[in-house]
Amino acid sequence: MLPIRVLPSLLSADFTRLGEELRRCEAASARVLHVDVMDAHFVPNLTLGPFIVAHMRKATRLELDVHLMMTDPLRYAEDFRKAGADAITIHVEAVGPRTMAKAIQQVRATGAKVGLAFNPDTDPRLWFRFMDQVDLVMFMTVYPGFGGQAFIPEVRDFIRATRARFPALDIQVDGGIGRATAADVVADGANRLVCGNAFFSDADPAAFVRELEALRP
Ligand code: DX5
Ligand code: ZN
Repeated sequence: MLPIRVLPSLLSADFTRLGEELRRCEAASARVLHVDVMDAHFVPNLTLGPFIVAHMRKATRLELDVHLMMTDPLRYAEDFRKAGADAITIHVEAVGPRTMAKAIQQVRATGAKVGLAFNPDTDPRLWFRFMDQVDLVMFMTVYPGFGGQAFIPEVRDFIRATRARFPALDIQVDGGIGRATAADVVADGANRLVCGNAFFSDADPAAFVRELEALRP
């Protein structure tokens, strides 16, 4: 069975004390950190680039899972890999079906693990033919762009359909995941839970990780 993992989303961290926040994630026994890159074009918000990822890389040995919310993710994939990304996830809406196979190869060629992300209104069944070429798929359970939004339950059907078809694939969920929603998405088949607000606002992040990682489908 695929292990359940909680991935703290650094978008909810206090960037005036980034080093301490990374240590808070380590102390909570998180193994993978989620880094949100927004380009002010694919989404209406702007966050950080390879420069900050390189500083994160120097400050922690945890895996860095980089989520590119970018119109042109391939232009920057190599830079993020060089900065220290262990996994790079691109949005299918940004790439399109005709160039998807090549895009996957290009990200793979950087040496990073490859992920495909889906907006809440994108039907993953149209993309099943690419899923055996990637290391993970990620369902956005909010419209990407901001932390702290409410979970969109309609995405659960997409998670179930994908898990039924791909029993061994890492399925990640991102947006509005916390104590109230994690059990449902794990029951649907998600095994990697990105948690921003819920993790960073919890009084006991270690217990938060322990409890969510103990969930079973
Ligand atoms: C949203 C980002 C998420 C965000 C999740 O566009 O992709 O990773 O940080 O934050 P929460 O868990 O607060 O919804
Ligand atoms: Zn994200």
